This record gives sequence, C-alpha cells and structure tokens, in this order.
Amino acid sequence: MLYKRCGIGYIIGMKYRRCGRSGVLLPEISLGLWHNFGAGDDRVQNAAIIGRALELGICHFDLADNYGPPPGSAEERFGNLLQQEFAGYRDEMFISTKAGHLMWPGPYGDWGSRKHLIAGLDQSLRRLKLDYVDVFYHHRPDPDTPLEETIEALVQIVRSGKALYIGLSKYPAAAFNRACALLAEARVPCLLHQYRYNLLDRSCETGMLPATRDQGCGSIVFSPLAQGMLTGKYLNTPVLPAGSRAERSDSVFLDAAKVSADAARVATLQNLATEAGLPLTQLALRWLLQRGGVTSVLIGARTVEQLEDCAAATGQEALSDDLMNLLEKQ
Ligand SMILES: NC(=O)c1ccc[n+]([C@@H]2O[C@H](COP(=O)([O-])OP(=O)(O)OC[C@H]3O[C@@H](n4cnc5c(N)ncnc54)[C@H](OP(=O)(O)O)[C@@H]3O)[C@@H](O)[C@H]2O)c1
Repeated sequence: MLYKRCGIGYIIGMKYRRCGRSGVLLPEISLGLWHNFGAGDDRVQNAAIIGRALELGICHFDLADNYGPPPGSAEERFGNLLQQEFAGYRDEMFISTKAGHLMWPGPYGDWGSRKHLIAGLDQSLRRLKLDYVDVFYHHRPDPDTPLEETIEALVQIVRSGKALYIGLSKYPAAAFNRACALLAEARVPCLLHQYRYNLLDRSCETGMLPATRDQGCGSIVFSPLAQGMLTGKYLNTPVLPAGSRAERSDSVFLDAAKVSADAARVATLQNLATEAGLPLTQLALRWLLQRGGVTSVLIGARTVEQLEDCAAATGQEALSDDLMNLLEKQ
C-alpha cells in the first residue's frame, strides 16, 4: 500500500505492509533510536531526523527504556521533541518502547516479572510524556520468571490502556509459540516480533522468522545494516571513520575487532553489490524487504542523509532471481 500524503508533507514513495493478521500497517522502513538520540547527541540533528522521517513516510519510531546513553535518555529526548516540535503528529506516529534489560538496581530492575514490566513502562511513559505507547515489548525472554506471569503483565498493560498492542523481542521459537498461545487465550494477540536479521546474520531463518510467520504475527527486523558494516564504510580504510559507531567509545556492541572479523564477508557482498550496480546499503535493505515474512526493516540513522539513503530502499523493483540466488550462497 502506498500513501501519497501525510500531515507534515508529501510522502515520497513509502510503502506500507500489514502487520500479521492485525489492523496495523507499518512502513517498510522504520526508525529505531537505540543509538544517536542519547543525552550527548545533537538535539537539532535529532529533530531534523524525526521531521524528515515523517516526510518520508517513516511513521514508526522504535524505542526502549535503556536506549541512550545513558539509559532513559533516548526516551527523554524523543519525548521532549514530541512535546515541543511534533505534538500535532502523535496520531500519525506509531511509537514503541520496551522493558526487560537492566534499568535500575536491585531485583526488580530487569527481566520479566510483573513488577519490572509495569514499573518500567510507567517510567517510560513519564520520559516520553505520553499516556500510552502503540506497542510495548518484552525486550528479551526471561529464563527464570514463569512465562505466564510475564504474559499476564503484558495483558494487564493493554487492558489498562497504557499500550495498544504487545510485542516480543528476541524470543526463540519455542518460547515465542508458547507466549503467542497465552496471549491469544487472553484475546490480546502478539502484534510484532522483533529480532536481528541481516546479510551477515541469518540465524532467525531457522527459528524466529518461520515461527513468527506461522503465528500470523508481524515481524520487524533490527540491525539490517549490521550496525553500519553493510554500508561498506569500514572497508579499505586503515582507521575507523571518525564518529562512526565502531569508533565511538559509547557504543559497546561494535568495535574494531568485530569490524575486522566480518571484513572478508562484507568485502564479498560489496563486490556483488558493485557488479549489480547498487550501493551495498541498498542491496542489504532491498534483500531484506524481499525476504518472505518481513513486515518492516528497522534502521538506525545518525544523520538525515543516512535516513534518506535507507528510505530509498522502499518502492524499488525486485532484485533479480540471479542476484538473490548468489546472495543465498553467501
Ligand atoms: N530488540 C532489540 O534487542 C534490538 C537490538 C538492536 C537494535 N534494535 C532496534 O533496531 C534499530 C536499528 O538497529 P541498528 O542501529 O543496529 O541498525 P542499522 O541500520 O544496522 O545500523 C544503523 C547505523 O548504520 C550506520 N548507517 C546507516 N545508514 C548509513 C548510510 N547510509 N551510510 C553510512 N552509514 C550508515 C549509522 O552508523 P554510524 O554511527 O556508524 O554512522 C547508523 O547509526 C535500533 O535503533 C533499535 O530500535 C533492537
């Protein structure tokens, strides 16, 4: 589905996909605020990214309580921007947050107890300055809390009106199937499953992706550019690009060692992209959009240019069967 217009301006070619068996449509490209929206990041730049996202039809914004750094600061930044610059657009936006990773000291500060989830969402709503979020996720499965307790807490949250829909993040297939059954029993179906999927990490293809499709849930896939490695920007450069995620000391999940461990695979993909006449970024995003079972591809962006670059992956013609077959073998 293609919308031509939204309140803030003209939408340039964004396509929308139905989220499983629900009433919700999500843009093919969604924007996550895990990085780049912390207390030390530039507020003006952040406002420009959100505004441009809306113009491009990227109306889904993904947060979590622990995004920053420091934890909580991405929700605070987004909440301030919403209140001060985008208040009129709340109903055009689909906003998610999550709880489950460590947020405060003591036994209730993380995981999946009713205590953690309900207190965590209340804190998020205060930071976001919202009465409700559109989706509330359990951010990671909890091996120790009975799944029934976690699911009852999620159902309670929807019934209380603090979230419209429930999502699960990084649930292995067996736990995901059990959780979906419990949610369905309570007539609060799981809207979305969120997990990592990119050309360097296809582990979801043997578990989470087919389970999500079989349950009739939407799937939103994160780190589609492997945190920037699948742009090719770390290839053929003796030093990490200044300001890049791998270079920044406040980014703990990507560093020089990880970049160098994946360099050979990225170089092979870069060669395939060059032969196909495409930037690697486009190849990586369009490949995902063409995989069966993906509802939305959840990107991150440090600049407006990066956002525009990623948004350009929507509405393009399909990659050829030959190219898809070559990528299948990587
Ligand atoms: N549920 C979970 O546990 C979980 C886990 C991880 C992520 N997520 C969600 O997924 C979202 C996206 O994850 P991600 O940030 O890892 O996604 P990503 O799209 O793989 O990486 C985004 C980063 O790639 C670089 N980049 C993007 N476009 C570029 C371009 N055109 N040219 C050059 N560099 C470009 C930028 O990094 P530089 O700073 O290097 O420029 C950008 O911050 C998160 O914000 C979060 O909402 C969820």
